[in-house]
Amino acid sequence: MDIEEDIRSLQLDSAEETNGSVTPEDVKPEEVDKSEHMDEDPKPEVQAEPIDVEPKAKEKEIPPTQDEDDEAEMMKKRHLNVVFIGHVDAGKSTTGGQILFLSGQVDERTIQKYEKEAKDKSRESWYMAYIMDTNEEERVKGKTVEVGRAHFETETTRFTILDAPGHKSYVPNMISGASQADIGVLVISARKGEFETGYERGGQTREHVQLAKTLGVAKLLVVVNKMDEPTVEWSKERYDEIESKMTPFLRQSGYNVKKDVIFLPISGLVGTNMKTRVDKKICPWWNGPCLFEALDAVEVPERDPKGPFRMPIIDKFKDMGTVVMGKVESGTVREGDSLLVMPNKAQVKVVAIFIDEDKVKRAGPGENLRIRLSGVEEDDISSGFVLSSVANSIPAVTEFVAQLAILELLDNAIFTAGYKAVLHIHSVVEECEIIELLHQIDPKTRKPMKKKVLFVKNGANVVCRIQVNSMICIEKFSDFPQLGRFTLRSEGKTVAVGKVTAL
Ligand code: GTP
Ligand code: MG
Repeated sequence: MDIEEDIRSLQLDSAEETNGSVTPEDVKPEEVDKSEHMDEDPKPEVQAEPIDVEPKAKEKEIPPTQDEDDEAEMMKKRHLNVVFIGHVDAGKSTTGGQILFLSGQVDERTIQKYEKEAKDKSRESWYMAYIMDTNEEERVKGKTVEVGRAHFETETTRFTILDAPGHKSYVPNMISGASQADIGVLVISARKGEFETGYERGGQTREHVQLAKTLGVAKLLVVVNKMDEPTVEWSKERYDEIESKMTPFLRQSGYNVKKDVIFLPISGLVGTNMKTRVDKKICPWWNGPCLFEALDAVEVPERDPKGPFRMPIIDKFKDMGTVVMGKVESGTVREGDSLLVMPNKAQVKVVAIFIDEDKVKRAGPGENLRIRLSGVEEDDISSGFVLSSVANSIPAVTEFVAQLAILELLDNAIFTAGYKAVLHIHSVVEECEIIELLHQIDPKTRKPMKKKVLFVKNGANVVCRIQVNSMICIEKFSDFPQLGRFTLRSEGKTVAVGKVTAL
């Protein structure tokens, strides 16, 4: 596919993202799982809810029920941000909930409470998803809306789980979740018909994979879920079929399947092949790792704790001062630091730093934080602003130059000066307009073409000038990949992906 070639040609990879590979050989066997098959769950129905405006990304926190280790202990462990992506109803929330249960974050009593609540809502099989889906709307409809956020730990690693919604109405929330992640768990339903729907054109399996790659999710664990389901029954043929169909697509989307992708079968609902390897009696053909082993074997991406401080703000609230939330993309923050909230250049002081529920003295790149600030009112901060070091502050612009791959314009529209779309770049969501097309990139040579270009169509790769109405804080992709990669969306569809080349 030419379009997919073009995404790859944007080279949205970077040297900083060589976060190692996961191979089944890297992990050691553990004791076997004693899970049993489950009864069939009712056919999930997709309740499409057309929405006019792209909602601002929202998140919800799933509070851990256990005390965590003290700060020193905590900082010793590696930390990884994992986003759960995939088509609606693939089992992302169920798998996330099961992980929290298996890692001891949720007790049996809570599960029983959820079982009853799910039953009362005629959603019996959704009780595991209720761990992640905490809003009433989500529980009633059985669909994630806001990115669920939770924490769990293995022997070696602290994980932040970001449970993205699969429904196409909530892709902006998925984008926000994926832009904070180091790796992705792509959940695929093996159930008859469900893999097919997700994989079709317009299905979110495809869209999520392409977005994840664009947003800097360098590694994927592809979990083939619902293996317990009566139409699957741990069938090797079904698993192989899904793997063989997904592999070329992942490759076309820019993933190096050998190095950056690992497939494994699980049942999120039953918890099979998750904390411990699947029993040979259930699945004699699987010799690879279970999910926890595979997660533990992912290498943490290299991060520069000495770089200039950058933390895009995802959310803010009042709590004994102004608290901002976000993931540190560069540098280190310490209690007492003086920083700037950009683009409005508000001088602030760091009063307190929280990782998960714990107060810490300092935090480095990759951490998902809550920071209490003094010197700024909550009302003066919006999501999309960036907490930045004073000496080397992040640029604030209303115009920038970018290289774009045009994926799919609505109704075969043409892409020309005056084209309007919604720009998603780190935590920024802003209307934007294409001001000028500078040059097209030759698909064969990958070099700029000499001829002046006035418009381009689907599949083109083009360099252009983009304008937004209010100041945004971004960086060149070559300097800070995570703050310089973006997507353009129009009427709920991703129309282009790109990288900032000049400010
Ligand atoms: P969205 O958030 O709406 O995108 O969905 P999701 O991917 O989070 O799916 P969710 O976890 O809500 O599960 C959807 C349905 O699939 C529920 O009925 C689950 O019980 C069912 N399901 C999830 N995992 C499994 C599994 O491993 N086996 C079986 N049999 N059913 C599963
Ligand atoms: Mg969900």
